[in-house]
Amino acid sequence: MDSIQPIDWRDNTLFLLDQRVLPNQQNWVQYQHAADIANAISNMVVRGAPAIGITAAYAVVLAARDAWNNKGKGWKKAMVEPLALLAKSRPTAVNLHWAIERMTICYLDLDNEQSPESALLLEAKHIHNEDVTANHKMGKLGADLIDDNSMVITHCNAGALATGGFGTALGVIRQGFVEGKIKHVYADETRPWLQGARLTAWELQQDNIPVTLQADGAAAALMATGVVDWIIVGADRITANGDVANKIGTYMLAILAKYHNVKMMVVAPTSTIDWELHDGDEIPIEQRSEQEVTEINGHQIAPEGVPALNPAFDVTPASLIDAIVTEAGVVLSPSLKNMRTLK
Ligand code: MRU
Repeated sequence: MDSIQPIDWRDNTLFLLDQRVLPNQQNWVQYQHAADIANAISNMVVRGAPAIGITAAYAVVLAARDAWNNKGKGWKKAMVEPLALLAKSRPTAVNLHWAIERMTICYLDLDNEQSPESALLLEAKHIHNEDVTANHKMGKLGADLIDDNSMVITHCNAGALATGGFGTALGVIRQGFVEGKIKHVYADETRPWLQGARLTAWELQQDNIPVTLQADGAAAALMATGVVDWIIVGADRITANGDVANKIGTYMLAILAKYHNVKMMVVAPTSTIDWELHDGDEIPIEQRSEQEVTEINGHQIAPEGVPALNPAFDVTPASLIDAIVTEAGVVLSPSLKNMRTLK
């Protein structure tokens, strides 16, 4: 149940599984330069908060290699520009900044007179491996909260593809399925980018976990039938008070869950927590292109010239969340006070 890994470092090169063309094509793209990786993050070759962080860590390795080759012992100064470009590649997922900061602390400590590549590669690999380990821990902690034979809805893709492997929300679902806690998953298709239809449905099928795809608007009617026990999702940024930014539509699901007495679980590593922000109002929300809404696969479906809103994320207030599951522990009824138990 751990076979999909979207990020691979081999032959001194970063390989990313191109998530824009899955599941129809499994295409690996090679990267040697940080600027190209910043583009890959913006354009969604790689997506999902933890996967973006891991990718950025490898990008720092490549930035350092170029800086050393071009500037020799002046390499540290030459890191500023590529790292600033990387930091701008997507605004909401805090794992990006977390990874760049961790790699920066590492490179500032290195000797000016020596190639930084191998020391930084070691740190990037640690970040990558720690993420997979955290996902397995969260899988167990999350599954412990679920009763046998439960039905769940998940939104977007918080799976192996969105992480180093195994997944956050899908990690809990994978573990819960093995333990007999989860018997069926409804995957929201997740307009406009269709991460649910293209990625989550594909991942769950690979692992033979029963999955039914539904249009996002079908979630309320499904909950009204009483069959759904849990909503399980990932997060892009969690603030100190437990508010959660995640894929657009998550907030809508949380409100529906409250109304229908369905429980709401958010699964994310501690690298997704932004302790510097007090609450969700302070989270920068990425606005993506109108074409992602007016077109499907490059084909115009809305009338020419109609404006479209395309916020990539929304914020679910902590009061609508039953549990935040991290590798450092579970926070029930998240609040400023309860979140502090993770510190
Ligand atoms: O725009 P995306 O596909 O990067 O959005 C991804 C999500 O919203 C995920 O739920 C979140 O990053 C958690 S991934 C483990």
